[in-house]
Amino acid sequence: METWDAITSRRQVRSFTDQSIPDAVLRRILDGARLSPSGSNRQPWDFVVVSDGEQKKRLSAVWKGAAFTAGAASVVALVLPVVEDDDARSLMNRFDLGQAALQLSVVAADQGVGSGLAACRDQVLARDVLALPDDRFVAILVALGYPQDRAIAPMKNLDRRPFDEVVHYDRW
Ligand SMILES: Cc1cc2nc3c(=O)[nH]c(=O)nc-3n(C[C@H](O)[C@H](O)[C@H](O)COP(=O)(O)O)c2cc1C
Repeated sequence: METWDAITSRRQVRSFTDQSIPDAVLRRILDGARLSPSGSNRQPWDFVVVSDGEQKKRLSAVWKGAAFTAGAASVVALVLPVVEDDDARSLMNRFDLGQAALQLSVVAADQGVGSGLAACRDQVLARDVLALPDDRFVAILVALGYPQDRAIAPMKNLDRRPFDEVVHYDRW
């Protein structure tokens, strides 16, 4: 798929078919995230891929807005180090992770795979389910699978603020 088509195909998918994602496709998607840029190339992230049904179900209870992830083929937990008393480092880590999450989602779209982001509110539960070390937390969950409603394809008229409202030239 062309890059522009992958960008305009990506959308929040919350219902998935039962079809699993072939290993090579899943690996390609994860590699998209792994290859993302990061501040000073620190690559602060780790990815925990959850495909086991019981594990997905337990993890999906981190908050009600994540319940849909139980129905995904796989859920990727994007994990960051806990940073105490360093706002700049913490902000940079989250910025880096956002880029990795988007790159993961766009590569998924390129592969015809739907993705859905979910926040992770209950960190105690997430740590327990994923057996994370104490110095790590789940920054975001990305559900992956084949969409139930319609195939991943370029979309027009995305629900976004208008170009001329968002873009400023030379000054605000
Ligand atoms: C940081 C972040 C957290 C999100 N958390 C959730 C979530 O917990 N549950 C959910 O259903 N959608 C979540 N979303 C999806 C957004 O609601 C969705 O991306 C937005 O409405 C735009 O829709 P689109 O992705 O289809 O363009 C999240 C998105 C982002 C960027």
